Amino acid sequence: MLDPFTAHLTRPLIAPSILAADFANLGRDCQDAMKAGADLLHVDIMDGHFVPNLSMGPAICGACRAACPDAYLDVHLMVSDPQFFFRPFADNGANAISFHIEVMESERHARTLAQEVRDLGCSPGIVINPPTDIRIMLPVIDAFDLVLVMSVNPGFGGQAFIPEVLDKCRLIRERLRPEQRLEIDGGINPQTALEAIDAGVDLLVAGSSVFGKPRPQWGEIIESLRGPKTHA
Ligand code: DX5
Ligand code: ZN
Repeated sequence: MLDPFTAHLTRPLIAPSILAADFANLGRDCQDAMKAGADLLHVDIMDGHFVPNLSMGPAICGACRAACPDAYLDVHLMVSDPQFFFRPFADNGANAISFHIEVMESERHARTLAQEVRDLGCSPGIVINPPTDIRIMLPVIDAFDLVLVMSVNPGFGGQAFIPEVLDKCRLIRERLRPEQRLEIDGGINPQTALEAIDAGVDLLVAGSSVFGKPRPQWGEIIESLRGPKTHA
């Protein structure tokens, strides 16, 4: 299985969001995305409270794990009470578990929850929404393996990229250790991917621009989301 937290990446990593997959054929879509060159699979969890939508629960994550035993599962908890879900997702094959800074009561709360995720054998991630002030998150990012910047207001796939979040990406990038990842999520297509990579992002989530396209194109699209080839 891929380790996304290596100090020297040779290219940006791509995580298709299964929110845009065909739920009636989820195992097949996960397998085909991995075969097409995806590095991770992004699993969007919505509780109908933190965001105005419901998506999937731990059993669906477990089904993805069963379909793709070697895929890195990147779970994004858009929920009001993330702690409640750590163990159910860890037990169902999650590798990274990210939760939102907006639902943290304090810096200490965020650090405690990051450690709880680590204690379950998973990598913790912290997520920030477009309107949220970056200053509430910067003091805790050292405790996380990944920092996820939302480039849409969470809740739904297929929304337009919000370019203002790129400044946030640049500020975070300056403060990350080489083995920490900077992830972006929402409205990513080959054009916005370039802008995000330029702002220091090295892990890109893409839902509709992969699963929303005809299957034979997935490989080519995933490759184009990585931006121009660099000399590694
Ligand atoms: C938004 C989710 C995203 C979403 C991205 O609430 O967190 O992961 O699936 O979908 P696209 O790529 O279609 O914007
Ligand atoms: Zn997401």
